[in-house]
Amino acid sequence: MARLPDAFIDDLLARTDIVEVVGTRVPLKRQGKEYAARCPFHDERSASFTVSPTKQFYHCFGCGAHGTAISFLMNYDRLEFLDAVDELAKRVGMEIPRETNARTPQQQDDSRDQYSALDAATRFFQKQLEGNDKARAYLDGRGVDADTRARFSIGYAPDGYSALKDALGKDERRMKLLERVGLFSKNDRGHVYDKFRDRVMFPIFDRRGRVIAFGGRVMEKDDGPKYLNSPETALFHKGRELYGLWQVRQANQKIERLIVVEGYMDVVSLFQFGVTQAVATLGTATTPDHAELLFRNAPDVYFCFDGDAAGRRAGWRALESVLPRMKDGRQAFFLFLPDGEDPDTIVRKEGAEAFDARLKQGTPLSQFFFDELSREINLGTLDGKARLAERAKPMLAQIPDGAFGDLMKQELARLTGIGSTTTAAAATPRPPMRNNAVPAQKRSLVRAAIAILLQQPSLAMNLDGHHAIGGLRLPGIELLVELLNLVQQRPDISTGALLEHFNEREEQAALHKLAAQALPGDEAMWAQELQDAVLQLEKQLLQQRLDELQAKQRQQGLDDTDKYELRELLKARATLRL
Ligand code: UTP
Ligand code: MN
Repeated sequence: MARLPDAFIDDLLARTDIVEVVGTRVPLKRQGKEYAARCPFHDERSASFTVSPTKQFYHCFGCGAHGTAISFLMNYDRLEFLDAVDELAKRVGMEIPRETNARTPQQQDDSRDQYSALDAATRFFQKQLEGNDKARAYLDGRGVDADTRARFSIGYAPDGYSALKDALGKDERRMKLLERVGLFSKNDRGHVYDKFRDRVMFPIFDRRGRVIAFGGRVMEKDDGPKYLNSPETALFHKGRELYGLWQVRQANQKIERLIVVEGYMDVVSLFQFGVTQAVATLGTATTPDHAELLFRNAPDVYFCFDGDAAGRRAGWRALESVLPRMKDGRQAFFLFLPDGEDPDTIVRKEGAEAFDARLKQGTPLSQFFFDELSREINLGTLDGKARLAERAKPMLAQIPDGAFGDLMKQELARLTGIGSTTTAAAATPRPPMRNNAVPAQKRSLVRAAIAILLQQPSLAMNLDGHHAIGGLRLPGIELLVELLNLVQQRPDISTGALLEHFNEREEQAALHKLAAQALPGDEAMWAQELQDAVLQLEKQLLQQRLDELQAKQRQQGLDDTDKYELRELLKARATLRL
């Protein structure tokens, strides 16, 4: 994905009012300088969710959710980063810079036209369904009711080779568009004809509710492949899309769980019976992109597969894709259905409650993981234990740091008696610092300075000469210098926009926490404190360099430049009254 320039994001956030963005979606109450609400990201009675117009960010003291207007849209409207940016940019009338968009304006217009061609095709197919007895009888026979047909915009592509082409391919340009979105096939002689013929059509929507592709089902056996899907196009990458996700978002204020099933019809039937959190991959295995998309939308994900060997293989592929995404707070379960059944048949036979009950019986990821890995291994033997450890370790290493990963490693240790050292290390408190020479008090100086900067970024403008602290060997010093530089480049930057620079970097969570704290004191005090902290750090750097030079003097002697530097440092130290 092309990265947008930081300056653009800064401008966008500067022109956006987060209170307005959040306020149109969540009722906010004024509370002193900030606004409060019941958190939209977790269940609560009291209002621990705050939006700060001065810092331009939100923070929930209950669940820790936090971020800028961009991350709010990503989490609340469940948009991808670029889509969230696009949404905000439209509100304030900004253009997303083209060169980073990797698309020319011509191409952008083109994609707009492609969406509308797909939309026109969807409506054409829907219209055709109304007029086709056979197709309606097929859907009746499968028990798909009118509401469900409408909700999924199900349609029918007529028989013959040119129904769509004749109806929509009115001119050369339109023909090109329909071809580009995958609705035509071409024979050896270059003749273009309808790709989908005599099939029930399932439009595939993207996250913003636009049709990007189709799946078409035959109505009689022996009429070619059961399902025919649109080819990959500029708008459609099947490894990144989930059938039904748009409908799930429409139907659920808050998505507690997502159920991943295999087929279009499974999603459709589950919906009709009231299970409105099902999505399907598009005839592919669950990819890492899918895993990310799933967890971005819901904390709990249930994978529901056939009970046969192929189903278990599919389950394992899904597990491999989710492992690296298993941050704390996320859960994955695996459910294997009885032979010959799929969610469509089960929910029709047993109803939604029974289906829910089956989900509740789903196997947690941890259990599925160890069960599968220890198949055909005798854990009663040393060899067997070693085998298990050998298989499990590289996979467990992919789990993000956190309690879940620790527990999985403990479980491996319990099963094998090997490698319990990691958990032992986690239990003993770490020594406060790697370098004993640096007292803890100096560390908190950096931290204090960072906290103040996050509170009131513009205070950095009162400082001078702070670049001089860059060489200090203290934890957090690089971060502090980076923050100082950012503010110097953009003196008006808000806390939220500053934090946005750390998007996807590991420091971000800690920075957010610091920014959310209510610092004691007022602006004047913070300004003084920041000044003092930076001065202290400068002195420390000076001393650090002095120590280095003196050590060198003892060991190998100094050359002329060293001597000059030493003299200058000593002079500086005198003026700083160290
Ligand atoms: P299934 O054959 O399990 O589909 O394939 P299903 O939904 O149960 O089909 P019905 O109930 O017979 O209508 C699962 C998924 O695999 C892909 C489709 O995405 C389908 O929904 N598939 C299957 C294809 O792409 N092509 C095929 O020929 C078959
Ligand atoms: Mn089926």
